[in-house]
Amino acid sequence: KNITFNYSNSFLKKHEIENSRRSVLEAHKMLHNKTGSGSDFLGWIDYPISYDKKEFERIKEAACRIRNNSQVFIVIGIGGSYLGARSAIEALSHSFYNVLSQDKRQGPEIYFVGNNISGTYLKHLLDVIEGKEVSINVISKSGTTTEPAIAFRILKTYIEEKYGKEGAKQRIFVTTDKIKGALKELVNKEGYEAFIIPDDIGGRFSIFTPVGMLPMAVAGLDIDNIMEGAKIGREEYMEEDLYKNPCYQYAAIRNVLYNRGKIIEVLVNYEPSLHYMSEWWKQLYGESEGKDGKGIFPAAVDFSTDLHSMGQYLQDGRRHIFETVLNIENPREDIKITDDEANIDNLNYLSGKSMDFVNKKAFEGTLLAHVDGGVPNLIINIPTMNEYYFGKLIYFFKKACGISGYLLGVNPFDQPGVESYKKNMFALLGKPGFEKLRKELMKRI
Ligand code: PA5
Repeated sequence: KNITFNYSNSFLKKHEIENSRRSVLEAHKMLHNKTGSGSDFLGWIDYPISYDKKEFERIKEAACRIRNNSQVFIVIGIGGSYLGARSAIEALSHSFYNVLSQDKRQGPEIYFVGNNISGTYLKHLLDVIEGKEVSINVISKSGTTTEPAIAFRILKTYIEEKYGKEGAKQRIFVTTDKIKGALKELVNKEGYEAFIIPDDIGGRFSIFTPVGMLPMAVAGLDIDNIMEGAKIGREEYMEEDLYKNPCYQYAAIRNVLYNRGKIIEVLVNYEPSLHYMSEWWKQLYGESEGKDGKGIFPAAVDFSTDLHSMGQYLQDGRRHIFETVLNIENPREDIKITDDEANIDNLNYLSGKSMDFVNKKAFEGTLLAHVDGGVPNLIINIPTMNEYYFGKLIYFFKKACGISGYLLGVNPFDQPGVESYKKNMFALLGKPGFEKLRKELMKRI
């Protein structure tokens, strides 16, 4: 079975889609011939076949060691060095993975840090891991990002105090650039086991590199199948013809909708385990397309939870939104609704039905209501959520993002905007080299 794309509720006319055909073909050529902007960062396109197979085996070996000697695994990273691993682990593991009994989980508890600057968060984590065997994976392509660097400094001290310098060396894993950056220098000095983030793959496109794969393997996910899904996705979504390529259809249609004034795309899921998939997707599209005063604003909701909050706006608020629904055709687990003789809650009409049956009716009912409310609804049907389809879906979104960015006329592979806050923060913190900016900013606050 395949991932399919349904745009029958997009409100678009046939000719609007036909009109995108030529521009999609051009975008396809720009990507594959590396003639568009940002073409130094296209390593992700062929990565599912070109990846370093020896390093991949080393990831599995390291994961095996970590699973054997650690009760806790801490992943330090932010943005593209964080969201991919978390989205995979949440989408594919038990919903309550960290609190499952050890025999059911068979791997360490996994925590993500360095994705914020909250002392409360890190202090609370230290409370949770007290007395447990710990390993850490610090992930940063630049090796200089402040949030993970602070978290790593604190945890490195913690782990060295606990195991001694030599012991810590066996428990610190670094994922960073091949040659440059502060983390790489530390690897050279301390002799930590290191994994490489290729030069030509930007953070938000790096999920299949060791950035995502080491934490996924530690969680016990089948990374061979994830890569297989990505590999098949790469083949299928290379098709030039818009009408035969669901990935390109998604890219094209979201741009037609954008040009019609639908400037916000809301990614919808009906499975709580997909919350972080949406976070990953938001970064991918927000950072790739939001530039030069343009771009769809990527938002996300978890249904049916958010039908009781954001549902009102979607149904009835300003009409500048379209929705893209992730429809998992067959859930990973299901449970039947019990019968109750007294039927005081009047739910006996659902006795014996599965929760997924009800969930699907919520999806269908919402779709029709929102379409009636004038909200275009696109549907991505995913046969089930397993490693293979996860890999394929991620590739689908990455490829669509590259095409979509070129259709929009931006460089989808840079992120100049994320630097501005950093400069101000460094200046306000008194980082050497930022003295002039500090003076200017201090006058304003
Ligand atoms: O997509 C990106 O490039 C960013 O989100 C980065 O991944 C993020 O800023 C973290 O960067 P680094 O891996 O250099 O610490």
